[in-house]
Amino acid sequence: MYTTLKNGVHIPNIGFGTSLIEGEECIINIKQALMAGYRHIDTASVYKNEQYIGAAIKESNIPREEIFITSKVWKDSMGYENTIKSFENSLKNLQLDYIDLFLIHWPKNDNEQLNVETWKALEKLYKEKKVRAIGVSNFLKHHLENILNNCEIIPMVNQLEFHPGLMREETINFCKENNIIVEAWAPLGKGKMLQNKDLIRIASKYNKSVAQLCIKWCLQNEVIPLPKTTNWNRMLENKDVFDFTISNEDMKFINNMKFFAGSTMDPNKFGEII
Ligand code: A2P
Repeated sequence: MYTTLKNGVHIPNIGFGTSLIEGEECIINIKQALMAGYRHIDTASVYKNEQYIGAAIKESNIPREEIFITSKVWKDSMGYENTIKSFENSLKNLQLDYIDLFLIHWPKNDNEQLNVETWKALEKLYKEKKVRAIGVSNFLKHHLENILNNCEIIPMVNQLEFHPGLMREETINFCKENNIIVEAWAPLGKGKMLQNKDLIRIASKYNKSVAQLCIKWCLQNEVIPLPKTTNWNRMLENKDVFDFTISNEDMKFINNMKFFAGSTMDPNKFGEII
């Protein structure tokens, strides 16, 4: 199952998140994820795990073209020349000769010009066919407008923190209007969603776990979830979401859950920081 980006590139509908995992543990994690059937791996230079992901891909013996790899340029490497260098470094660490999707990891709020210069580097990499698609991450509507006003190529993807309670309607609607595919990091609210009483109640109606409900909720909102897990059974569980459909009524209910303003908040208490 995949989504088609505006340039025709296919991106598998469920990705595998890899932040906070490094070293030998990362190699094992990625090899297991590939074994479980994931073909879309999301990394970033700042995760410091690209070399381990590269090693896992090599050791898996899965043909390169069957795996969709995303990486990102970090805040301290923005600007035209630095971004090109950062990309080359990611490529070397991943031991690849192209990356499927390359993103600007975070926008600079106080330097919109730097966002544009960084974007121009991504456009160059795309034109040189070193990346199959380019996009941004954590860009809100006004950051995207600045890029759109100054770019040759419109971003194909925007990766955002997205989970029940954090719908980001304004940015999501802007992305839809401009055919920018949205990806969700922390689709389980970094695991915190799993204790929410309403989500537990709704998930049980479908005989599914809350994790599966959150992942399916992303998909039904046309957002590509990037769940993370270090556990084999949960890797399988998080992919097993194609045998049920969340009703319109339940989708509306979850879409309207407003209490949860970010992954540092308690999922059962309105606005309380934990
Ligand atoms: P673990 O690695 O022990 O499975 P997110 O993707 O929103 O960042 O959430 C990741 C967190 O959610 C991790 O702590 C992960 O822990 C946990 N997690 C991932 N999948 C599941 C699942 N199916 N059931 C319970 N916890 C999960």
